[in-house]
Amino acid sequence: MPVLLQSTLKGADLIHRGKVRDTYDLGDSLLIVASDRISAFDVIMENGIPDKGRILTQMSNYWFRKLSEVCPHHLQVTDDEQIRQRVPGWDESLAGRSVIVTKAQPLTIECVARGYIAGSLFKDYRREGGQTHGLDLPDGLLDGSRLSEPIFTPATKATEGHDENIGFREAVDRVGREVAETAREWTLELYRRAADHSATVGLLLADTKFEFGLTEDGLVWIDEALTPDSSRYWEASQWKPGGPQPSFDKQFVRDYLETLAWDKRPPGPRLPDDVVEKTKQKYLEAFRRVTGHELPAR
Ligand SMILES: Nc1ncnc2c1ncn2[C@@H]1O[C@H](COP(=O)(O)OP(=O)(O)OP(=O)(O)O)[C@@H](O)[C@H]1O
Ligand SMILES: [Mg+2]
Repeated sequence: MPVLLQSTLKGADLIHRGKVRDTYDLGDSLLIVASDRISAFDVIMENGIPDKGRILTQMSNYWFRKLSEVCPHHLQVTDDEQIRQRVPGWDESLAGRSVIVTKAQPLTIECVARGYIAGSLFKDYRREGGQTHGLDLPDGLLDGSRLSEPIFTPATKATEGHDENIGFREAVDRVGREVAETAREWTLELYRRAADHSATVGLLLADTKFEFGLTEDGLVWIDEALTPDSSRYWEASQWKPGGPQPSFDKQFVRDYLETLAWDKRPPGPRLPDDVVEKTKQKYLEAFRRVTGHELPAR
C-alpha cells in the first residue's frame, strides 16, 4: 500500500487537518482518518512512514476497547465495510486507518499522566523545583526517574506551537471543577491499567496524553489512545535515569534531524529511506508487543 500523506474524500466535508489526522464531518459523528504523516519538533516531515496511520488506528482501537470499563470512549464504527456503507466516496486507500466517532467538544486541556519524569515536566522541574505547577515532587529526581506514584499534569491544548504544562488549579479554571476532577480520575486510572499491561511485555509506559470531550451524554475519551505518538514507551531493560531515554518511535527521526543544519521550522526535511524503514519497524514493534498480534494484512 502506498504512503498516504493526505486523504481525499468527496462525500464529506473536511473540517480539520492536524499533524497526523484528517477529520471529516458526518453530522453528529466524525470520520477520522489517520494519515502516514510524521512530525518531529511539531513540524511535519516531507515524506511519511508507510502504514503508520494503520498502526496508530489499530493500536488506539485496541486500547479504547481494552480500557472501556474505565470510562466511555468515542469509537462508534471501526469495521471498514460498515464505514464504507456510511460514508459516500470512502475507498480502499482509507482502509484500516478510518474510524467513525461521536462528535465531541474537545476540552481545552490535554490530560497527561506520568509515572516517570521526562520531557517538558523535567525541564520545568529543573528550572522551578519540586513545587512546579503545584506538584510536590521530591528533590534530586533525574531525567527519567520513576515517581513514587503516577501524577496528573495537565497541559494547555495549544492550537499552534507547543503545549504548556499547567497546574490543576488552572485546569479547573479552564474546564470547571467537576470536569477537571473527572478527567484527572480517568487519566490516572487509564494510565495505571495501561502501564500494568505494558509492563507484562517489557515496556515502561513513562507517560501518556489523553484528550476528553463533552457530548450530550457527558464527558467522553476522544482522540487517540496510548499510541507511540501520544505516549513515551521505554524499553524496560534499557531504562537508565540521568538523560533522555531512547524513544520508541521517533528516535531515528530525531537522531537524523540532529545531523542536519535544519532550523526546526517548516517545511520539514525529507527523511532518507533507512530512517523511514527503521521508524516503521519501531512503530510495528510497539504495536506487536502491546497487542500481542501482527498488524492485520491488507
Ligand atoms: N471525538 C472527537 N470529537 C471532536 N474532535 C476530536 C475527536 N477526536 C479527536 N478530535 C480532534 O481531532 C484532532 C485529531 O487530529 P491530530 O491528532 O492530527 O491533531 P493534532 O495535530 O494533534 O492537532 P491539534 O493541534 O489540533 O490537536 C485533534 O485536534 C483532536 O482534538
Ligand atoms: Mg493529536
